[in-house]
Amino acid sequence: MGTSGVEARDRARVVVTRRIFADLLERLRHDYEVLDNQDDANWSTEELLARMADADGVLTDPGRQIDAQLLSGCVRLCVVSNIAVGFNNLDLAACTRAGILATNTPDVLNDATADHAWALLLAAARRVVESDRWTRAGHWERFALDAFLGADVFGATLGILGMGRIGRAIARRAQGFAMRVIYHNRSPAPIANVLADAAVRAGDRGGTVPDDCVQGQADVALAGGGQAQWVERAELLSSADFLVLLVPYSAATHHLIGAAELAQMKPGSVLINIARGGVVDDGALVDALRAGRPGAAGLDVMEHEPQIHPGLLALDNVVLTPHIGSATLTARRAMVRLAIENLDQALRGQRPRALLNGEAWASRRRIAGGAA
Ligand code: DGY
Repeated sequence: MGTSGVEARDRARVVVTRRIFADLLERLRHDYEVLDNQDDANWSTEELLARMADADGVLTDPGRQIDAQLLSGCVRLCVVSNIAVGFNNLDLAACTRAGILATNTPDVLNDATADHAWALLLAAARRVVESDRWTRAGHWERFALDAFLGADVFGATLGILGMGRIGRAIARRAQGFAMRVIYHNRSPAPIANVLADAAVRAGDRGGTVPDDCVQGQADVALAGGGQAQWVERAELLSSADFLVLLVPYSAATHHLIGAAELAQMKPGSVLINIARGGVVDDGALVDALRAGRPGAAGLDVMEHEPQIHPGLLALDNVVLTPHIGSATLTARRAMVRLAIENLDQALRGQRPRALLNGEAWASRRRIAGGAA
């Protein structure tokens, strides 16, 4: 028996809730007994619990809720390693109470996510998807001066709600479009966690400012020159031609952008949500888009994803992508590698590189029979 009263085993057992890159799975198998999901099945909560009940660690994904009830059935679980920077799918308090370490994958996806925000912004501004559908449908008969008129991006005002390092990466790109950049953060609290080591900094190819804190009410200097100006939220909403949402989802940010906020946006402006569904009230957004305020939206995340509000599907002035903000091979592999590293460190008794609940460290569960 280990110190926790559960049976010791030769190799720790790890559950992986989603398909991951085969070579990285093999690396994991080298050290652990792995219950994988290479078929990418949608396990029910019961099926997940059946696997996790006896596991020492889990590599999980943002689509999977790891809540108090599930955790209460996991008697030997030492670590929940989320393959995402966002962690609203984890009940951190329940992890901490149980002495389970929780980790995420910050930083390694900053540039990929910033690029995707821009892909959505340009596509929504210039009606790329709508005109592509129209062209494929065989409607194109002649050049028309008034066909698919879009919004000017060059020289416009970019607003960022939730300025952290992804926000800075997005803002940096805006300099090439000679944009004024404004932002608002609700509080000067630090970002939950960041990777502090030089390797990740060196990999931060966007050259975002290596400052780990969300700014207070101060302007942010952008790498490459220029700055993002802090403004009140009302000003952000009413001044931005393009508003990018980057706030994490929590009870406090549920429907942060609802009917009242949408009504404050400029007619014809563009809303981009690359953060989490639920930050926007999708029903209110449908009504607002029908009324042209904002004029268009680009959404990578939705309130009840993978279910999509039917009103959004019916609108031409929305570009939808299926939560692929970080989906480049480089970024997704780096996320899985970091998630494995976090898990591995926890199971070896080392403090994980991207630990979310530092307060659980002192009272962490020790792996049964292991060195940790
Ligand atoms: C994250 O990391 O939080 C993303 O949403 C998943 O790519």
